[in-house]
Amino acid sequence: MSHPFLDALSAWGPAPWAPVLRARLEERLAQIAERDRKGRAYSALIAGLPAVMPSVIDLDRDWIRIGRREDLGPGERERLNTVLRALIPWRKGPFEVFGMRIDSEWASHMKWGRLRPHVSRLNGRCVLDIGSSSGYYMFRMLADEPALVLGVEPYLTFYYQFVLLQHFIGAQGLFTLPLRLEALPILEEFFDTVFCMGILYHQRDHRAALARIVRMMRPGGELVLETLIVDGNEDALLAPRGRYAKMNNVYALPTVKRVASWLRQAGFGRIRCVDVTPTSPVEQRRTDWMPFESLEDFLNRDDPRVTVEGHPAPVRAIVLAERR
Ligand SMILES: C[S@@+](CC[C@H](N)C(=O)[O-])C[C@H]1O[C@@H](n2cnc3c(N)ncnc32)[C@H](O)[C@@H]1O
Repeated sequence: MSHPFLDALSAWGPAPWAPVLRARLEERLAQIAERDRKGRAYSALIAGLPAVMPSVIDLDRDWIRIGRREDLGPGERERLNTVLRALIPWRKGPFEVFGMRIDSEWASHMKWGRLRPHVSRLNGRCVLDIGSSSGYYMFRMLADEPALVLGVEPYLTFYYQFVLLQHFIGAQGLFTLPLRLEALPILEEFFDTVFCMGILYHQRDHRAALARIVRMMRPGGELVLETLIVDGNEDALLAPRGRYAKMNNVYALPTVKRVASWLRQAGFGRIRCVDVTPTSPVEQRRTDWMPFESLEDFLNRDDPRVTVEGHPAPVRAIVLAERR
């Protein structure tokens, strides 16, 4: 199984981490090809996609647009629709692909709109997006003309959503690796900007995660951290015993003040919170393309200020920081 990043890696040939990254990526690709039923099925679907050049690609809009309806013949359209449907659930988007509107669970343009005015321009930068999902934010970043955008997304449904979109978009310098953050060797002082959004609360050891991230950033590089928080001015933390909003892997919901102290301890400075927004059913909801439970099912029906478990309902903060 090949991967476009394996070719790009030769550009960083002498970097000490390059051979390790190559080996880990090759091992993961072999595992997907040989031992992962879902991965094999997705690869086969992608291989059968029509080889069509979209007549329009517009990445700099809320609904990322690839192609027009009339770019495809009826057979091609049917085939593409089958692949798009096989890749349900579409959590991050939305996209319009050859006239087919993929309304994802998350209206991701809302978060992008909240963070975009505060983030340093990405032109010429090397960017890492941890937990990049379908690549929605990475595609949005391209308007700034970064030098490299690298996503890591271990969950194969989301990874192959990216592969499908990139099949038609063919953006240069843009890659997603089907790896967890922890599987990425430390690319010492490599990235100018790191997006870590919707990740930290899923980490059993947030300190270890931040320690990895800081080492991969050049001094002065920018971290865009988005995470679930709890309200309060003190240095507090909610560590849910069982589930949080029906998720069984939420380990820590800090206050913004606590996030700031984690970042300081990890080696970040110029820490500022630029947004705090409660998640609303306008931003996260069930759609045709994500037909399972969503926010409204995670909240107490009689009191949507709390989750079904009785915890405070989801509120997310965007915190920016610089590597010292
Ligand atoms: C809550 S979603 C956030 C997606 C996106 N970053 C956003 O903010 O909208 C978390 C994503 O991170 C991925 N993920 C989970 N654990 C990860 C890890 N250890 N390393 C990298 N990605 C991970 C998940 O598969 C999922 O796509």
